[in-house]
Amino acid sequence: MVDLRNQYLSIKAEIDKGIQEVIDSCAFINGPAVNSFQKDLEQYLGVKYVVPCANGTDALQVAMMALNLKPGDEVITTSFTFIATAEVIALLKLTPVLVDVDPDTFNIDPRAIERAITPKTKAIVPVHLFGQTAPMEEIMELARKHNLFVIEDNCQAIGSDYFFNDGTTKKAGTIGDIGCTSFFPSKNLGCYGDGGAIFTNNDDLAKQMRVVVNHGMTVRYYHDYIGVNSRLDSIQAAILKVKLARLDEYAAKRRSAADFYDNAFKNHPQLKTPARYPKSNHVFHQYTLVTKNVDRKALIEYLASREIPAMIYYPVPLHMQKAYLDPRYKPGDFPVTEHLCETVFSLPMHTELDQEQLAYITQNVLDFLNR
Ligand SMILES: Cc1ncc(COP(=O)(O)O)c(C=O)c1O
Repeated sequence: MVDLRNQYLSIKAEIDKGIQEVIDSCAFINGPAVNSFQKDLEQYLGVKYVVPCANGTDALQVAMMALNLKPGDEVITTSFTFIATAEVIALLKLTPVLVDVDPDTFNIDPRAIERAITPKTKAIVPVHLFGQTAPMEEIMELARKHNLFVIEDNCQAIGSDYFFNDGTTKKAGTIGDIGCTSFFPSKNLGCYGDGGAIFTNNDDLAKQMRVVVNHGMTVRYYHDYIGVNSRLDSIQAAILKVKLARLDEYAAKRRSAADFYDNAFKNHPQLKTPARYPKSNHVFHQYTLVTKNVDRKALIEYLASREIPAMIYYPVPLHMQKAYLDPRYKPGDFPVTEHLCETVFSLPMHTELDQEQLAYITQNVLDFLNR
C-alpha cells in the first residue's frame, strides 16, 4: 500500500546523515535531535507545545491521563476507526460511547454526538479519518456548550488544514484541547519504527503530559502521579525532521494521485469516490472507495493476482469487535458504519506513485468491474 523504499532512496543522503549524527552523539534518548524535531513540528503546526512520545496509541492514552479522566467517565468517539482510539478509553476504564459517521466523509457526525451526550460525558474524541479533518467547528461548539474536552485523534491527518467560517485556518490536531498523532512508518509523516506526539496550546496540560510520559515524575525520582514510559527516540526524531520538511510536498503528491483515481472512477455506477469536505484539505492518508453491487473479496483477489495491493479499512465496526461487545450496542445501531465496513476498499496511496502505476491500478479495477 506504501512504497517506503523508493521514498527513502529519494532522501537517503539526508536521512543517513541524520541517523549517523545521532549515533556519533550517542544521545539516543531525549537527545538534541528530539528537541530540534519538536521545535520544527511546533512551528509547522502553529501550536505552542509538542510532546513527543512512543506511538499514537500512547499519545491518546497520555492525553486522557493528563485530563484526569476517571473510571466511568463517558468519552464519545466514532464507531468507524482504528481500534486504538477505543482501546485506550477501555484500558483506562473510561466508558466508550460510540456514534455513527457521515456517509460521505466517513468522519464523526456532530448530530450523533449531540444525541449521545449525558451528564457523565467528559470528552469527545473525533478522528480525522483517512486524511481529512472532522467537522471541528460543530464539535467545538458542542464541547463549549456541554463543557467537554476535545482530544483530536490526528494519527491519519497530519498536515491537513481546517478552514473556519471566519476565514482563519488551523492545522488538524491543534483545534481541540489536545491533538494526538502517530509516526508509524506508513503514516503521512512516518518514521522508521514507532513514534508519536501530542499537541496542545494549554500550558498546564503540556506540563502535565510531559510528567505523564516520564513515569509521572515531577522532580527526578519523585513520582507525584502514576505515569507511563513513552519516549520518541533520537534516531526516529532525526528521520522525522528530514521528512517534516517535505510533508506538504508529500501531501501534494498524494492529492495528485487521488485526482488521478477520482478522474478514472468518476461516474462509475459501482464506485463512489471519496468526498472532499470543503472545510478541510484532504491529505489522503488513504484513498477509500465505496462499492455498490461489487463482490469486494473477488475484486481484492483479482487485484492481488495482478500484484496490486488493496485493503479494507475497516472490516468490522468497533461495536462488533469481539473484545468490545457491549450489551448497550447491537448490530444495526450504526447503519452508516456497518454499511461502510461491508462496502469500502482502499487502493495504494503514497508519495511514489507514478502515472504508469496509477494507470495500471485504475485500469485493472475497471477491467474487473466491466468484465
Ligand atoms: C486513527 C488512529 N488512531 C490511533 C492509531 C495508533 O497509532 P500507533 O500505531 O502509532 O500506536 C492509529 C495508527 O495506527 C490510527 O490510524
